[in-house]
Amino acid sequence: MTDSRVIVALDFPESDSALALVEQLSPGQCKLKIGKELFTAAGPALVENIVGRGFDVFLDLKFHDIPTTVSRACSAAAKLGVWMMNVHALGGGQMIAAARDALGKGANRPLLIAVTILTSMNEKDLKEIGIFASPGDSALSLADLAKQYGADGIVCSAHEAASIRARYGDEFLRVTPGIRLPDSDSDDQKRIMTPSNALQNGASYLVIGRPVTRADDPAAVLRRIETVLQESGAK
Ligand code: C5P
Repeated sequence: MTDSRVIVALDFPESDSALALVEQLSPGQCKLKIGKELFTAAGPALVENIVGRGFDVFLDLKFHDIPTTVSRACSAAAKLGVWMMNVHALGGGQMIAAARDALGKGANRPLLIAVTILTSMNEKDLKEIGIFASPGDSALSLADLAKQYGADGIVCSAHEAASIRARYGDEFLRVTPGIRLPDSDSDDQKRIMTPSNALQNGASYLVIGRPVTRADDPAAVLRRIETVLQESGAK
């Protein structure tokens, strides 16, 4: 376990490029997120490799299936030694509860995070799948569900972190992507925030991908983020 609140998204197509970055980082500097692309290409062996190097790993596979299947998938993920994993809250309360039960009660159990409404979906997209509430209202209802059925927190934009913290308390984690340094390219992210503003606005963990992964010196960018966080008193 490290106490870093920065999670670097290892968005790579295969294991060699991911490991080339991992070798430049240390578990004290950051946690690491492995998503569907890298996991599908490189499999559980890569997860175990990175966990074995001492990193806290967020396995971002967003499970969404019947409760039994999700429960078994969560047990399998827990056996890899990951620190955090996630499910879609849209799978329903029973599915979230089954996922949470599968992780047990141990102090070192993985944390369970729920995804509410994908940030790629707008009002029109929701209507197409039969959801007539606004994306914001839908996300809030799903956050209520996630809390009620035992998730440890949700993925949300740093812009919503303060209201989520006010509604559910500090223990209910806010994992926030869309983080950019003042001089970083925003890429395809629309609602961005700097690391220190995000923590001051109530984020628990910052998910940062391209500003670190495409830097010439990723470790130097992380050191800069760490310094900015310490200087701003956000940490
Ligand atoms: O490169 P960047 O910092 O934009 O990467 C953000 C990471 O967070 C990516 O892995 C992306 O898939 C993930 N993510 C996101 N928005 C969400 C959920 C996850 O950007 N709502």
